[in-house]
Amino acid sequence: MRVTILSRSRAIYTTRRLAEAARARGHAVRVLDPAQVELGLGPGARPRLFHRRRPFPATDVAIPRIAVSINQYGLAVVNQLGILGVPLVNAAPGISASRNQMRCLQLLSASGVRVPRTVMAAHPAGLKEMVKHAGGVPVLVKLLSANERGGVMICETMQSLEAALEAILGLGQNIVVQQYVQEAEGRDLRALVVGGRVLAGLRRRPAVGRMARSLGRGARYDRAELSPACRRAAVAAARVVGLEVCAVDMLDVKGGPLVFEVNSSPGIREVEEDCGVDVAGAVVERAEALVAAARGPGATAARRGAGP
Ligand SMILES: Nc1ncnc2c1ncn2[C@@H]1O[C@H](COP(=O)(O)OP(=O)(O)O)[C@@H](O)[C@H]1O
Ligand SMILES: [Mg+2]
Repeated sequence: MRVTILSRSRAIYTTRRLAEAARARGHAVRVLDPAQVELGLGPGARPRLFHRRRPFPATDVAIPRIAVSINQYGLAVVNQLGILGVPLVNAAPGISASRNQMRCLQLLSASGVRVPRTVMAAHPAGLKEMVKHAGGVPVLVKLLSANERGGVMICETMQSLEAALEAILGLGQNIVVQQYVQEAEGRDLRALVVGGRVLAGLRRRPAVGRMARSLGRGARYDRAELSPACRRAAVAAARVVGLEVCAVDMLDVKGGPLVFEVNSSPGIREVEEDCGVDVAGAVVERAEALVAAARGPGATAARRGAGP
């Protein structure tokens, strides 16, 4: 089959591995930069798609790896492919929901997936009041921003929280405040879900010599056994958010895991190199299954609910 990987650069580890894995399985692969794709709409015409002003190359499936930096544009490209009926190994609605942290938590919570106590308010006074509902300090202040990766900050006292709130809200940033689950209370786990199955369980490796766990990017992971409850939560989270491929981050506390984030374009280097799991191969396999389902006899009937 013809596989299109939408990615800013073929030099990115995950992109390279996906291309490798698809070629190894006999597929024709193109890596296209979504920023080089043009889109057209008009009355009475099929939506059009171009690449560098030439007709978009025919493809059987697309694997979007939309960088947060071109989120909006990238999502428009993915949507256009979706409208044209190209199977997607992550469609636009799921990617979009996962990139909006509050929306994601709302979706999860509405479907019965447990999330950490989280509060949101537009003004410092409201937030200070709401912190009670998050269980009081210590809390995490999470910056929400649509196109850039947010940031996270631990506030251990009401005083430091007030200072942080004044500063951040003063800048017009949206934030959520979340119960801070300390290491002793719950392990920081990640489940890689592909096609509704947990492919690997990981544990975020605590940063030695730091005040707290490293909250930054590029954290290291160790392979971890996930409890059945964590697996169920991860699979449910992927389904609720609507993602074929994702990393579900959760805190494994007493009483059951709390899902705090779902990542729709997880980097796979750590998992592949640290844990020896062939994630790229599994993603390509899932792409094959989606193409087969889209083509297969009765696929359309089954989707209409007509049954065999
Ligand atoms: N409620 C929480 N309690 C404890 N640690 C958390 C909590 N939420 C997030 N973290 C830690 O902070 C890191 C970053 O938070 P996250 O919500 O994933 O933000 P980002 O958008 O930066 O990925 C997580 O990977 C996790 O290690
Ligand atoms: Mg995260």
